[in-house]
Amino acid sequence: MPASISDIRLLLRVKTLPKAANSRRVFIAGGTGYIGTGLIPILLERGHRIRALVCPGSKAKLAAEVEVVSGDALDANTYRQLIRPADTFIHLVGVSRPSPSKGAEFRAVDLVAAREAIDACAELGMQHFIYLSVAQPAPVMKHYIAVRAECERRIQERHLNSTIVRPWYVLGPGHRWPVVLLPFYKLGEWLPFTRAAALRLGLATLDQVVLALVEAVESPVQGTRIVGVPEIRSAGLNLTREAQRKTA
Ligand SMILES: NC(=O)c1ccc[n+]([C@@H]2O[C@H](COP(=O)([O-])OP(=O)(O)OC[C@H]3O[C@@H](n4cnc5c(N)ncnc54)[C@H](OP(=O)(O)O)[C@@H]3O)[C@@H](O)[C@H]2O)c1
Repeated sequence: MPASISDIRLLLRVKTLPKAANSRRVFIAGGTGYIGTGLIPILLERGHRIRALVCPGSKAKLAAEVEVVSGDALDANTYRQLIRPADTFIHLVGVSRPSPSKGAEFRAVDLVAAREAIDACAELGMQHFIYLSVAQPAPVMKHYIAVRAECERRIQERHLNSTIVRPWYVLGPGHRWPVVLLPFYKLGEWLPFTRAAALRLGLATLDQVVLALVEAVESPVQGTRIVGVPEIRSAGLNLTREAQRKTA
C-alpha cells in the first residue's frame, strides 16, 4: 500500500525490473514506521514473502499481502516463537522522532528490541540479519549512536551473518527540513579536511534507503557487511545494473 507520490514513483520504477531470482522469507520488526512502510510494498513487488511484527493498532498501516503477527518486540520469546521459517530478519524498531533528550528511551526501546531480536536470531540460526543503524561516528546524538554501536557489537559477538545499514538523516515525505543544509554539505564534501565526515553523514533519500535494504535482502552475506551513506546512495543503480546484466 504505497503512502505517497514518491512511494508510487519508486514502485513504478521497481516494476520495470525483473523479479528477484530468489524469493526470500522476510521477518520485519518495526515495519509500520516511516522506512518500513516505504520498504514493504517494494519487497512484495520484488516477490518476497513478509511476516511483520506489529503493535496493536498499527496493523492498518500494512498491505493485505503482509502476514501480520503480534507480540512484544522487547522480548526474545516473541521472536523465538514467530520468526521461523524466515531466512531474513529486518530490524527497524526505534523510538519515534529521535532527539538528544531521549537517551533513556533509546536504551529502553531501541537497545532492548535489537538485543532480544539479535539473541533469538543467533539461537535459531537466522541466515541473514539486517539492522538499520546510523552513520557513525558523529558529533551529535551521542546516546542514540551509543545504542546503535552497542547493538552492532552484539551482532558481531553473536556471529550473525549481517548487513548493517548506516544512514544519517533520511529525506522523504514529511522529513525534508535538512535540505536547507545541502549547500553546507556541498562545501564540506569539497574541502579535503571535512570531506570524509560530509560523505559519512550525508543525506540519503527514503528511496535510496529502501533500495539499499532491498539490495541487502537479495544479496545475503557471510560475516558482516557495513553499508554507509555513499553505498546507500548508489543502491538503486546497483539493482538496475544487476537487472540489466541478467536480462542481457
Ligand atoms: N528515519 C531516519 O532518518 C533514520 C535514520 C537512521 C536510523 N533510523 C532508524 O531506523 C529505524 C526505522 O526508522 P523509521 O524512521 O522508520 O522510524 P519510525 O517511523 O519511528 O518507526 C519505528 C518503528 O518502531 C516501532 N516501535 C517503536 N516503539 C516500539 C515499541 N516499544 N514496541 C514495538 N514497536 C515499536 C514503531 O511501531 P508503531 O508504528 O506501532 O509505532 C514503528 O514500526 C529506527 O530505529 C530509526 O531510529 C532512522
